[in-house]
Amino acid sequence: MSATAARALFESAFGRPSEALFSAPGRANLIGEHTDYNDGYVLPFAIPSRTFAAVGVRPDERIRVTSTFSPEPVEVALSELADLFPSEGTPRVPEWAAYPLGVAWALRERFPDAVTPGLDIAFASEVPVGAGLSSSAAIEGAAASAMNALWALGADATTLALAGRRAENEAVGAPTGIMDQMAVMHGHPDAATFLDCRTLEVAAIPVGFVDADLELLVIDTRTTHAHSTGGYRERRASCELGAAEMGVPALRDLTVADLARAEERFDDVTFRRVRHIVTENQRVLDTVATLRSAGPTAIGDLLVASHVSMRDDFEISTIELDTAVESALAAGALGARMTGGGFGGAAVALVRVADAEAVEAAVRATFAERGFREPNVFAIWPADGAHRDA
Ligand code: GLA
Repeated sequence: MSATAARALFESAFGRPSEALFSAPGRANLIGEHTDYNDGYVLPFAIPSRTFAAVGVRPDERIRVTSTFSPEPVEVALSELADLFPSEGTPRVPEWAAYPLGVAWALRERFPDAVTPGLDIAFASEVPVGAGLSSSAAIEGAAASAMNALWALGADATTLALAGRRAENEAVGAPTGIMDQMAVMHGHPDAATFLDCRTLEVAAIPVGFVDADLELLVIDTRTTHAHSTGGYRERRASCELGAAEMGVPALRDLTVADLARAEERFDDVTFRRVRHIVTENQRVLDTVATLRSAGPTAIGDLLVASHVSMRDDFEISTIELDTAVESALAAGALGARMTGGGFGGAAVALVRVADAEAVEAAVRATFAERGFREPNVFAIWPADGAHRDA
């Protein structure tokens, strides 16, 4: 178990027992993809797999981090954190370490008057890396929660999420939105986090999977495409261009009724990028309304429409993700879609518990037939957000 692994790693790396333990989950997105950096709506939830951080205070002003996937500790003076992250180019630390050290930097910038003693932190994670389940937000969330407590910052969950995003954007250099960090910090068992990415207002929306005998299967295709970061950046640029040309601060400010006007104005590709965001925002609102009025068995078509929009309009799906979605639906899933940034990673399928085995078997058989890599299939459900464990 990763809690034990984090504590054991702390002892072996730092030669003393840890003082406290914090953890943060990965996340899956039920619906609302690429809407976050368009100031739009998302409906993600925290998943049961977590990243644990065993921590201890140091008598000096240095920070050391180590993790089970790269046990050689990385050590730096707190005052020198900013030098690790040049505004151009790659961080001057191993990539994984830029996440927790970036959070330390962002929190010290946000709370310049706080007394921040040195820290030793050992991470152990059970969140699969590269599956689109936000292993990076999990490490940011665990680090931020630990620092918030040991530095007595008194920051709320949203402030910690913002520090995580700043680390990701400015320390790691990935141009992501705020969805992952908010999902990780605000998670609730059996509820998804409905987030307005402009106001950062959150509402826990009960998903009711358990009462409806449903579960969500992750189908991790175990493929990541080399152009995923470039593709993400390019989509973001198209959206910003689309908003500027339409004279609005963000695509969030357009509705489905504005699409006819957008179609006249844009080339085909830009129009389809804009249409994905505008319709996806509406689908998030429709999903929330449907969960409230009719329950989770009724959201399947919205999930499928979201996938089709990502496949055809936003063009971020892959043959493996399309196959996962199609074979799950053919075997009786109520809905399915790719989840996360795209260009590889995982799909999610909403299934009746009684059909889960058959859906999994059908997906595996189709992948084998087509010569794809064997997928990793497992059930998830909404779980608790970041917290102190001990
Ligand atoms: C990645 C990013 C998020 C979000 C999703 C797409 O997970 O980290 O901010 O943009 O892609 O919805």
